[in-house]
Amino acid sequence: MKIYNTFTNNTRYNQTKTNVIPRYNTPDATHLPKDTVSFKASKIINLPESILSKCKTTIKKILPSGANNNVRPKDLMDLPEKQIIEICQNALKKQIPLGRGQEATVYKIEEFPREYCIRENRRIATNYNNLKLNYKLDKFDKANFVIAKLGEGLTLLKYISGIPLKIMRNSDTVSGIKVKESMQELIANNFPEESFIKVLDQIESNRANGIVFDRKGENLLVDPMIQEITAIDFSPKFNDIEYNPIAYIYHALDVDGTPFAPKVLGKLMNAYAERLKTCDLKDLNLDVLDKNFYYRGFMDDAFNKFKDRELLEKCRSMLFDDLLEAKKTMSESEFNDRVDYFKFEIENLLIDPLEMPREEVY
Ligand SMILES: Nc1ncnc2c1ncn2[C@@H]1O[C@H](COP(=O)(O)OP(=O)(O)O)[C@@H](O)[C@H]1O
Ligand SMILES: [Mg+2]
Repeated sequence: MKIYNTFTNNTRYNQTKTNVIPRYNTPDATHLPKDTVSFKASKIINLPESILSKCKTTIKKILPSGANNNVRPKDLMDLPEKQIIEICQNALKKQIPLGRGQEATVYKIEEFPREYCIRENRRIATNYNNLKLNYKLDKFDKANFVIAKLGEGLTLLKYISGIPLKIMRNSDTVSGIKVKESMQELIANNFPEESFIKVLDQIESNRANGIVFDRKGENLLVDPMIQEITAIDFSPKFNDIEYNPIAYIYHALDVDGTPFAPKVLGKLMNAYAERLKTCDLKDLNLDVLDKNFYYRGFMDDAFNKFKDRELLEKCRSMLFDDLLEAKKTMSESEFNDRVDYFKFEIENLLIDPLEMPREEVY
């Protein structure tokens, strides 16, 4: 193969002159207390007293009361119980839906939209006038982000940001589907390994505690801004016979049959492998782990549309037969090197396969 020299000898670009940047004497603010709004600071730039007093009044108007004492805005749970209940009742009256599952609808709390939301079980009729905060939570409540129970079938939840990527052909619009596809592409190309480790860890540690993720697509939320993938629905009733966290996440992200499938699978496998470095064997749910990536044609099989089945089987075996076996026998440092080699291979096979055969590159 011929390699072309792309450098030029034209030095014109290096001769562009820039103006000298003038140096200003910046005021010394080190004596000011940190994280406070100080009107004295404005004296540094010598504002006339009339403008200064106008500024003070405007700032007082726009900041919430207490802000000039450097107090952060109150959290819902810092409020008196009566007020918390009132806010929840208002949300239940307004019924602004954030999402709807088979059993429940989740509503927005307008005053705290990024912190909390309310889940109502539609099958249970609750009297909204008779709500009480009950903090007695079991392990399933905790896994499902419940902060408090409000009444039968009503719970106050920690708000989880993101949208499910499962494409609903009947209800999603054409542009809605485009958004989901773009997010799948983002996950494949831009999400860091930590995003995958976090969600694997969430599903695995809950499973070790006897709590199974209800692996439907609606139950996995993806936030492209903070690059987080969060499982939100762990059900005591859901008891899948085939437990495989990689297949669960892959399935819920709805990437099978898309061009992003191999990359997403590769990233999940590498995250699983990386997690093996620090995870104890007993926390890996090996007694219930189903080491298959199924493509039998059943509706729920995660890999029905995966194009290269030979490749899929090869990678599956590298992880669940070889690497897991190595975890049982190797020393820690030997195993860590083994994981790094595995990740390198998966990178080449699934994540970033070379377009051209190797001979042509060299
Ligand atoms: N903690 C949460 N934060 C934000 N949205 C949520 C939260 N929990 C649930 N949702 C939204 O509400 C929908 C239904 O909630 P879910 O608890 O899964 O109900 P169901 O048990 O009926 O499936 C979810 O698919 C999701 O869109
Ligand atoms: Mg659900």
